[in-house]
Amino acid sequence: MTPDLMELGSKRIEAHLTKVQSVNTDSGGRGTSYSRLKSQGEIDLAHGRILYLEGVHVSFDGFKAINNLNIDIAPGELRCVIGPNGAGKTTMMDIITGKTRPDFGQVFLGSTIDLLQHSEPEIAQLGVGRKFQKPTVFEHLNVFENLELALKTRNGKGVSSSLFFKLDSAYSDRLAEVLETIQLSAHVYQEAGYLSHGQKQWLEIGMLLMQDPVLLLLDEPVAGMTDQETARTAELFLSLKGKHSLMVVEHDMSFIAAISETVTVLSEGSVLAQGTLQEVQQDERVIEVYLGR
Ligand SMILES: Nc1ncnc2c1ncn2[C@@H]1O[C@H](COP(=O)(O)OP(=O)(O)OP(=O)(O)O)[C@@H](O)[C@H]1O
Ligand SMILES: [Mg+2]
Repeated sequence: MTPDLMELGSKRIEAHLTKVQSVNTDSGGRGTSYSRLKSQGEIDLAHGRILYLEGVHVSFDGFKAINNLNIDIAPGELRCVIGPNGAGKTTMMDIITGKTRPDFGQVFLGSTIDLLQHSEPEIAQLGVGRKFQKPTVFEHLNVFENLELALKTRNGKGVSSSLFFKLDSAYSDRLAEVLETIQLSAHVYQEAGYLSHGQKQWLEIGMLLMQDPVLLLLDEPVAGMTDQETARTAELFLSLKGKHSLMVVEHDMSFIAAISETVTVLSEGSVLAQGTLQEVQQDERVIEVYLGR
């Protein structure tokens, strides 16, 4: 996450928190989160899809990295995407986040927001959060400061005092809720550089959560984690499902088994198979190109 993206995220949450303050909820923090999601009136879910890609193509010097890709995700869904190296999984995330432009095809957030008409920072502001494989937390800041920065950094130059003043209680509720979600409440004042690899990954996910994303894209989130960290990450993702929509790319099949409902298998830039993990594991084509290796 870059400071620019953080800045846009903080603008976004400022707008949403302002809305939340005008909504009466008596169910505490959890209810507040749901209210925030529901109040995201700019995303039209009339067709039951938070993300929709149709007929997407991308070539790099004549090589078809993405080749007629069709995929859609329901609001609150946790979608797993698997597939061999070079299948186009990361490129698909690059397209959704505006980093790579397709040669042709459609990419929509909800039924009305054409993501191809938006820049990378605008897409982040619309509520699409992305986690790259390597953790990118601020190592010399503590956990609390990292989360605070994710919410409030403006131009990477510091905190907006008016934002701080206006959001004080809503923002500290949010921070406490995120700390609990990422299981770092006991490490609030620990410098991020001293966290384990897994804890750094959770902190970065927490930084994305501070911006209240509608859709979270997570590329190989458990790579390099211990078995125990992987198991806790599975719990974390299951707890996020329903409140956010998630697209998770992973090669760790035990992790996929722990979290998956629908699994999409990508191969050579398009969807080869889709179904439950059990269904795709029994698909001869999937065994041939990926699982049977
Ligand atoms: N910017 C680029 N320029 C040229 N080729 C690219 C570029 N980005 C990706 N590719 C190629 O597109 C193909 C798809 O790559 P991508 O990184 O999306 O695969 P992946 O499914 O994420 O693989 P992995 O599981 O190894 O991460 C690969 O052949 C890759 O070399
Ligand atoms: Mg990749």
